[in-house]
Amino acid sequence: MTARPAIKPIAADRLPDLLRAMPKAELHMHIEGSLEPELMFALAQRNQVPLRFANEQALRDAYVFNNLQEFLDIYHEGTMVLKTEQDFYDMACAYLARAQADRVLHAEIFFDTQTHTGHGLSAETVINGLHRACAEAPEKFGMTASLILCFLRHLSEDEAFECLEQALPLRDKIVGIGLASSEVGHPPEKFAKVYARARQLGFRLVAHAGEEAPPAYIWSALDVLRVERIDHGVQAIHDTALMQRLIHDRTPLTVCPLSNLKLCVFPTLAQHNLGRMLDAGIMATVNSDDPAYFGGYLNQNFTQTFDALGLSARHAYTLARNSFDASFIDASVRARYVDQLDEVFETFQ
Ligand code: HPA
Ligand code: ZN
Repeated sequence: MTARPAIKPIAADRLPDLLRAMPKAELHMHIEGSLEPELMFALAQRNQVPLRFANEQALRDAYVFNNLQEFLDIYHEGTMVLKTEQDFYDMACAYLARAQADRVLHAEIFFDTQTHTGHGLSAETVINGLHRACAEAPEKFGMTASLILCFLRHLSEDEAFECLEQALPLRDKIVGIGLASSEVGHPPEKFAKVYARARQLGFRLVAHAGEEAPPAYIWSALDVLRVERIDHGVQAIHDTALMQRLIHDRTPLTVCPLSNLKLCVFPTLAQHNLGRMLDAGIMATVNSDDPAYFGGYLNQNFTQTFDALGLSARHAYTLARNSFDASFIDASVRARYVDQLDEVFETFQ
């Protein structure tokens, strides 16, 4: 770890501007969850797919969820409009433009091939479209982006193996493997063998764990799947030994505050445990998860959470720095991004 700059105290009313201006990485964002109603309706028309909502506002009005499953049902419905490689490219470009506006220098983008192969698309259609947008990101959006393929945990391990197999011809277009969808009842150990195979193949490994399910899911993501990062992980706070383990190993948690609020993981943002996690020494990051559905992109997650929890400029630096340190970028690129971060904190007035 390199030295950190001295963090100057700044006026509370300047903090939102600092949060917006600071360079950052986004490590937990499902590209299908960035599909805004406007683009969804445009793709529905382009591909002749019927939608049961009269217009964009009627769709937005349906985004009220009591839990993860209620969200996943409507999220799945939205993915039906995606048919061609161009659709995946357009969706990814729309996200990258939003990320650039939020000063995201690097994004690691989740996608779930199984959702789309389940609708008759090929893995190549999905991966080639998304990858083309990522490959163009440096020139078009002044940032880097890579792809993480998530298995759907409500499906079987055999189906995850099949998904991995289909992705292998496109191996070079994917940096890592993740695990998403309905958590409770589908513990990490269900995917022990396919994660072992992905590890052998050289993929970086992450998994959603402890979003709604208990700390045991985080333990098995670490010890059975041997992941490098935990997606969400907010339930870790209920297990002291687990907290000690995460702090000791500096295991990153990709926390998604507005997602947690929308899916009722916390009743209010003021009750979110991000501040307690950071102050305990957990290597947390802030992320948007499914920004089109949860009420905001990355900077909205930062500004609303900092406001609700009364977090400081020092927390801001730690979170941005963690996002680069926890990313899967090359060390030389990371050093360049951290220099840009440090410069903002040294010069911000
Ligand atoms: N949790 C689990 N699976 C998901 C999510 C999420 O928040 N978003 C898209 N797939
Ligand atoms: Zn997620």
